[in-house]
Amino acid sequence: MTKSRNPSSSKNTAAFAPRVAVAIMAAGKGTRLKSQLPKVLHEVGGKPLLAHVITAATRVVPPNDVFAIIGHEADRVRSAVASTGVNFVLQSEQRGTGHALMVAQAALSAYDHVIVLSGDAPQITPQTIARLLNFHLDQQAAMTLLSADLDHPTGYGRVVRKSARSAEVQAIVEEKSATASQKKIREINAGFYVFAAPQLFLNIEKLSTANPHGEYYLTDMAEILREGRQRVVVWKTNNSTEVLGANTRAELAFIDFRMRIRKCQSLLATGVTLPLPLSSCVIDSDVEIASDTVLEPFVQILGNSHIGAGCRIRSYSVIRDSEIGDGVLIRNGCILDGARVERNAILGPYSHLRPGSDIGEGAHVGNFVETKKIKLGKGSKANHLTYLGDAEIGAGVNIGAGTITCNYDGVHKHTTVIEDGAFIGSDSTLVAPVHVGKGAYVGAASCITADVPEDALAVGRARQIVKEGWAREKRAVRKARC
Ligand code: UD1
Ligand code: MG
Repeated sequence: MTKSRNPSSSKNTAAFAPRVAVAIMAAGKGTRLKSQLPKVLHEVGGKPLLAHVITAATRVVPPNDVFAIIGHEADRVRSAVASTGVNFVLQSEQRGTGHALMVAQAALSAYDHVIVLSGDAPQITPQTIARLLNFHLDQQAAMTLLSADLDHPTGYGRVVRKSARSAEVQAIVEEKSATASQKKIREINAGFYVFAAPQLFLNIEKLSTANPHGEYYLTDMAEILREGRQRVVVWKTNNSTEVLGANTRAELAFIDFRMRIRKCQSLLATGVTLPLPLSSCVIDSDVEIASDTVLEPFVQILGNSHIGAGCRIRSYSVIRDSEIGDGVLIRNGCILDGARVERNAILGPYSHLRPGSDIGEGAHVGNFVETKKIKLGKGSKANHLTYLGDAEIGAGVNIGAGTITCNYDGVHKHTTVIEDGAFIGSDSTLVAPVHVGKGAYVGAASCITADVPEDALAVGRARQIVKEGWAREKRAVRKARC
């Protein structure tokens, strides 16, 4: 079912296919995290918990059939995941997981079935969601819940089955309400459900707050529906780790660690070399790296970065949201943020490529060079101690050590244009807006404030004065005084 469309949107089966929505409960504060940040915005694998759950959901149904129920810091949560195209339902007061579904009733009652996911359990896979839905449809159940056996089930709701071998559920008992013998049950409620929408919303008003938390528990629907002679069943996953919730900092750290291990394993399997991968590299979930690339220890590849084939990224480089072509060498200690680097370029050591840096094929950016919003053409070189900002630099250009583009006049930013084959002597300042023509030379230590025509030489510095014997005379005067 991965990548499949909502059954309701299939043309051939439209008359028979059920309409399926996904509701993601994401309104809670996350008190146990002791944080200013809403729980579902805490990150694992380099992106918010909620973003992982949305990714899984939108592989089962299209984004317009996904409803994120938000409440605590709703604006912040909405803007963090707005680009996914899902819908939002506001639960302004968070009165429990059952209450979350009550407020979403208007949005969801147009559907036949509602898949309910927890915004704080980010490892759920689209395959498991699809299997849970299929089991629910096969069983013609009013409620189907996902369970798993845990060695340490403390804190989770426990699944009480009608009998050990039956898929039918008697009740879900929350930790705080469980008897001593129920606490021994290792089968936990994972917090993922499928409901037949009419049965859910016909009965949801029967939920009460008569429990130790004084909240509307969605889990009570199991007993309510069963008492109304509706079918409530459970489907157990063998992969118990995919259901783990991130309720505490320790759980967040554990899930983050697991995700990164899995990411490293999948990269190793596709031909990427990672010495000491599990203890030293930090690679976010959405990163892509092609085969025969080597990441040395203590490299971080973050956000939405794509690294080509046959690259080598040396230790202590940090690459975020950047696009790296094939065969690129990134030497030690480089920082790239929102940069694009074409094939066979060489960076570093200690280059800083800021957003909008576009480094051409085979170009070199070297020691302590900072770039921002520039295009550096094919084969051009800026090897030492340079700042290049707001510049369009052609192919085969040599930027000497210590060159600075003066792009900011205190109010506005201005552009420096350096055409193909130009040579900028060391320690030059180019006061933008300024244009250096094709093949032109700028003498070392020049301050260039006017355009330099094609093939010209510009020298913008004081003429050298030489005073013969001056030093000798000065020494002699000093000696006579002593
Ligand atoms: C819940 C289940 C428990 C299950 C566990 C699995 C209930 C009563 N208990 O407990 O049986 O074992 O998940 O992880 O459902 N939320 C809202 N609005 C609210 C309250 C919560 O949207 O008013 C959201 C939270 O942001 C969170 C999710 O619902 O993403 C689950 O809430 P949480 O408080 O974490 O429930 P658990 O105590 O983990
Ligand atoms: Mg939870």
